[in-house]
Amino acid sequence: MDRKVALITGGLGGIGLTLTKSLAEAGYQVVAGCRPNSSNAEKHAGELAQSHPDVKVVPFNVSDFDECQRVVLDIEETVGPISVLVNNAGITWDGQLKKMKAEQWRSVMDTNLDSVFNLSRALIPQMLARQYGRIISISSVNGEKGQFGQTNYAAAKAGMYGFTKSLAQEVASKGITVNTISPGYIETDMIRAIKEEIREGIRTQIPVKRFGQPEEIARAVLFLADEQAGFITGSNLSINGGQYM
Ligand code: CAA
Ligand code: NAP
Repeated sequence: MDRKVALITGGLGGIGLTLTKSLAEAGYQVVAGCRPNSSNAEKHAGELAQSHPDVKVVPFNVSDFDECQRVVLDIEETVGPISVLVNNAGITWDGQLKKMKAEQWRSVMDTNLDSVFNLSRALIPQMLARQYGRIISISSVNGEKGQFGQTNYAAAKAGMYGFTKSLAQEVASKGITVNTISPGYIETDMIRAIKEEIREGIRTQIPVKRFGQPEEIARAVLFLADEQAGFITGSNLSINGGQYM
């Protein structure tokens, strides 16, 4: 049987690289997206080619609607039908609203939320035709609870819930599930960018008293991506060490 193709955006990032490797090891044909001119591609593509030679790395900008359309069609033609889409690419650009620039708002919305529309819109007609698909979007604990300094990011991540629950209803009878995962603070460059004293303050508020690991998110992605997870749709899985219940 042909292997299922999984497209993971941000597939070379802190969480993404672990998703890429985990899905490849579970037997998926993985296509890992990254930014054009990605420093992560320079850093990881060589090692990945050695350790997981079947993974295909495709640079493209998830904020660009036309580029997403082109890339999805190209992957379907050259690699195979995409069964699993993991919307994982994302950025933060924190700051209090009273100081937030329009560009700061726009770029966070474009990368975290418009990307989910761009890729789902490009792929859903083919998934509908094939009567099968798994769409998993990586939201955040801060989309659930809000966070000082993150009106842009929390709005984008919360927007994913409405999108997911609506699309899930549109495609539920066609073999396609649409879900979100909401990680808490996971040890990647994204949280390393927070000032140390603020970051440590956050850590002490997490009931399990530690940050999460990318592997803990990968387990959930594998679970939702599975063919046997077909009864789980429009749902959100919170993985946050008890930070928000
Ligand atoms: N609640 C209430 N007040 C707060 C506060 C909070 N959580 N944090 C700061 N303040 C107050 C400060 O006490 C200070 O008050 P005074 O002016 O009265 O002294 C005021 O706000 C300014 O504080 P800062 O000096 O920290 O403000 P700043 O403008 O320099 O920095 C900030 C703002 C960049 C948002 C900084 O507070 C910060 O980095 N916060 C952490 C944000 C965060 O958690 N980001 C997550 C990034 S990782 C991620 O997003 C992944 C994921 O999904 C989990
Ligand atoms: P990261 O290491 O910074 O990875 C982010 C990834 O997004 C990178 O691989 C980056 O590509 C990609 N990306 C950013 N802008 C893009 C664009 N315009 N086009 C294409 N790709 C783009 O962060 P992370 O911690 O792994 O985060 C992954 C996801 O989890 C994000 O959506 C984030 O919001 C979410 N999340 C993270 C945490 C956490 O604590 N770390 C918690 C909750 C949710 P390059 O590799 O080319 O740079």
